[in-house]
Amino acid sequence: MTTKKRVAILISGRGSNMTALVEAARDPAYPAEIVGVFSNRADAPGLQYAWLAGIPTAVRSHKDFASREAFDAEIQSILDGWKAELVCLAGYMRILSHGFAQHWTGRMLNIHPSLLPLFKGLNPQQQALDAGVRESGCTVHWVIPDLDNGPPVLQRRVPVLPGDTADTLAARILAEEHVAYPQALAMVARGEASL
Ligand code: GRF
Repeated sequence: MTTKKRVAILISGRGSNMTALVEAARDPAYPAEIVGVFSNRADAPGLQYAWLAGIPTAVRSHKDFASREAFDAEIQSILDGWKAELVCLAGYMRILSHGFAQHWTGRMLNIHPSLLPLFKGLNPQQQALDAGVRESGCTVHWVIPDLDNGPPVLQRRVPVLPGDTADTLAARILAEEHVAYPQALAMVARGEASL
């Protein structure tokens, strides 16, 4: 078997997509391994799962750094320490510095709970309800310096149902995110998708 791609995951919170990636990577045939989880918040619930799973974790607060660039340089050195080849953003809530995004362009993915290019930014599920669309979903996309504008790797669709709230729609989309992200990462790790 060819060598697995070394993947680092950046989180800020719950970490359910991170968990989906870690679980997928338990399969010996999966083409990627999760070599570290970074969080910018010490209280991110996802950290505990990563720790219990035996995955190296690192936490830094931007408050301890003079600039966005300095903070991202620290993350870069952590990723270098893990010898990461790919980065997956999974609910990572900090804007990336241009230099960091540039460095990882073509090797960094994000997941967003809408069918991009629709409903970029915050609260995309509420945006979908407000727009009255009949269908929404999630997008795994390449991260480029221009936030939320990287090309999609794959999308999965869900219906918007009568009576949906942002929470019920988010839950339906999240179930598809947990399928989409492992699939997309596998495609990228195998070289079947590239920027
Ligand atoms: C997900 O809906 C993801 O699409 C968005 O932030 C949420 C993170 O959830 N970018 P989790 O931390 O992976 O559970």
